[in-house]
Amino acid sequence: MILVTGGAGYIGAHVVLELMSHGEDALILDNLCNSSRSSLERMASISGRRPVFVQGDVRNRGVLDTLFHEYSINAVIHCAGLKAVGESVREPLRYYDTNVGGSVTLCQAMKDAGVFTLVFSSSATVYGDCARMPINETCATGNPSNPYGQSKLMAENVMKSMVASDPRWSVGLLRYFNPIGAHESGKLGEAPTLTPNNLLPYLLQVASGQRPALHVFGTDYETHDGTGIRDYVHVVDLAEGHLKALQALRAQRGVHIWNFGTGQGYSVIDVVKAFERVCGITVPLSYEPRRPGDIARCWADPGKASLELGWCAHRSLERMLADAWRWQCSQTHAFDTQVG
Ligand code: NAD
Ligand code: WQD
Repeated sequence: MILVTGGAGYIGAHVVLELMSHGEDALILDNLCNSSRSSLERMASISGRRPVFVQGDVRNRGVLDTLFHEYSINAVIHCAGLKAVGESVREPLRYYDTNVGGSVTLCQAMKDAGVFTLVFSSSATVYGDCARMPINETCATGNPSNPYGQSKLMAENVMKSMVASDPRWSVGLLRYFNPIGAHESGKLGEAPTLTPNNLLPYLLQVASGQRPALHVFGTDYETHDGTGIRDYVHVVDLAEGHLKALQALRAQRGVHIWNFGTGQGYSVIDVVKAFERVCGITVPLSYEPRRPGDIARCWADPGKASLELGWCAHRSLERMLADAWRWQCSQTHAFDTQVG
């Protein structure tokens, strides 16, 4: 059985679906601070299978020990964490406590239970403002400009030290670029409870009439149209990569870093135009100054994951946007699903 922490959340739920569709048993530990039980219903309705769910906190050693004792867990996919950059600036202790402290507690419990296979949800944010594009795994980690990014870098370093001290570990540090999209069924996707910070959830709320305009942060970057470039990757491609990483880690010990991106960068305006083309909706824009802490360009060299895992993201930007819009429509019930 695979323990998926944060498995009720956006990425974790897609990972759980992927595991179950490949015959793996999944156990979710989630405190539901940024998700709800409805994602469990949705997973069951898509797959016909219901993962075991325990509501609890990854920082709670007692809960972890009970799970490792009661279930036959052979690996952990650690997605639980807090991820809002702005919130991390306002509440740094909560972010370090959850993202670093939670990871330490989990690793301690795993070690004591004799479970040494771990896949960790890291982020391309650990590279900071990298001068060279595309970014490969040999690029130095940078100095992330916010506590969220720092907490991911710290958790990675904790895991690297842990593996260096004990050869029994197999740890995969998955550096996600910009995950977007939703399950093609339209039944599972990202459901932000607060005002979204990320581009796509905000764009979807503008497109569905919940907000008047999309703020385009910065039009004077050194890019082809002046707006920031990112590597958007479909959440289902990402989920598939977790299974591949798990399979590789079962065969190989040590710490392994893999970039999870497409290798293709798109600007904010590229994304808006593609969305308008695919979904047939005009997105009102308001041009704003640069957002503090943002970088101009960031995209992956995903070659290492392709070579070592046989994984590459194959869903197009258009597909990501169509799937995300289908999910948004099913959420708001405001529009017919009009995408192909
Ligand atoms: P999410 O908020 O949808 O999912 C995280 C889940 O973890 C939620 O269900 C939440 O309730 C749970 N959780 C939080 N703190 C917990 C705790 N202390 N104990 C138990 N459960 C807890 O976020 P997501 O987008 O699915 O992100 C998953 C992971 O991937 C996070 O670690 C995030 O930092 C990382 N990540 C996300 C992105 C992104 O853009 N979405 C990019 C890079 C990395
Ligand atoms: C993408 C582009 C913005 C919103 C963040 C975290 C990173 C990772 C993913 C977890 C940028 C522009 C955005 C908007 C805009 N998360 N934008 N209007 O900043 O690459 O990464 O999320 O690990 O750690 O930092 O993603 O979606 O916020 O922004 O113009 O309303 O869209 O300036 O160029 P980002 P994003």
